[in-house]
Amino acid sequence: MSAEVMSELEHGASGHGKGIRSRLGSHDHGGAVVASPPAFDVERIRRDFPILERMVRDDRLVYLDNAATTQKPRQVLDTLARYYSDGNANIHRGVYTLSEEATAAYDAARIKVQRFLNARASREIVFTRNSTESINLVAHSFGRRHVGPGDEIVITHMEHHSNIVPWQLLCEQVGAQLRVAPIDDSGTLQLDELERLIGPRTKLVSVVHLSNSLGTINPVREIVAMAKRRDVPVLIDGSQAVYHMPVDVQALDCDFYALTGHKLYGPTGIGVLYGREEWLERMPPYQGGGDMIRSVTFEKTTYADLPHKFEAGTPHIAGVVGLGAAIDYLQEVGFEAIAPHEADLLAYGTAALSEVKGLRLIGTAAHKASILAFVMKGAHPHDVGTIVDTEGVAVRTGHHCTQPVMYRFGVPATARASVAMYNTRAEIDALVRALERVREMFPV
Ligand code: ALA
Repeated sequence: MSAEVMSELEHGASGHGKGIRSRLGSHDHGGAVVASPPAFDVERIRRDFPILERMVRDDRLVYLDNAATTQKPRQVLDTLARYYSDGNANIHRGVYTLSEEATAAYDAARIKVQRFLNARASREIVFTRNSTESINLVAHSFGRRHVGPGDEIVITHMEHHSNIVPWQLLCEQVGAQLRVAPIDDSGTLQLDELERLIGPRTKLVSVVHLSNSLGTINPVREIVAMAKRRDVPVLIDGSQAVYHMPVDVQALDCDFYALTGHKLYGPTGIGVLYGREEWLERMPPYQGGGDMIRSVTFEKTTYADLPHKFEAGTPHIAGVVGLGAAIDYLQEVGFEAIAPHEADLLAYGTAALSEVKGLRLIGTAAHKASILAFVMKGAHPHDVGTIVDTEGVAVRTGHHCTQPVMYRFGVPATARASVAMYNTRAEIDALVRALERVREMFPV
């Protein structure tokens, strides 16, 4: 893949209408033009994921709910088993070998995350439970210190509830206001409207990198530049982005970046907040407890240095170590290989689903990744999900924790297929066959 294409993937540049799909080779798919499959040994990748061998009743599992959580490669599973069977101890507390080894493994994983995101220093990497907790940390800690009555937080209409509700709670507590930038009928952010909302009272812009319900990739570098011109910090919710494209927080120039491990082929219960050091230094602790202090008396407590100030209590040590293994795995495969393969699946799936009678795609932005969300005339999304499951096909149905998106498109819910590195065109075909069965049961 060219440097230009990688850069576009990385930064979500606003290449509207000329995403990477349009630059790959093409062939016909029932009248629609579809990118040729790039050279990528997907069968080799699939062998790393034991769960993909699973049968669901009489059918081989077709797992297309990657936006909810990805499956785990053997390399991550083995690392977790090895950690618990051979290296389990609490960290930062013992002088014995096992504790020192566990501490070293934990600290090494932090450095892997730092390099993965290209943060300046490992003290800018805080481990949390998930993206939700990362955003709540900023809302509580940054919010209580820097947001006051009459101030404003700017978000977009396509945010996950985890990037809406923490700000609503903060606004209620401090008397601030939430401002929401609109999206158009394709699910593309209206950038000029967003820019108009960033004013003298704006204290933070918080925006999703890749929408979980629409697939839209936002031009986050441009958004950060826009906010920086007004001296406003930016948080990016990268939950869905980090396993589809490289992210460089220095190139983005963002102030906070939230991600979750279980979408990154890692364990559940482990997340990351990248925070620019200048902000983290000025922010009060989010939670109090062990490991986040320098000294405690009943009169006064002083806090540990970054990042420990934000990591109270025994952390999810195994989760952190497993996340490190997931990052190693992802980097070994490489986004240069993953991104064109997934782009091909998205183009192929878009063309194939468009041919299903009475199917409407929700989320058709020019710059998007992974997500194929849709509704089918005459069939509720939950019925769609239940019927395709009888063929072994796993998709998510519902509002995807983005109810405002559902209201915007006038639907109660959608069915959503989402692809990851191990999916294949044959699996998209299996989805389409299963949808034909839905059509037979709910004719239009
Ligand atoms: N936020 C995750 C999803 O989109 C759980 O499914």
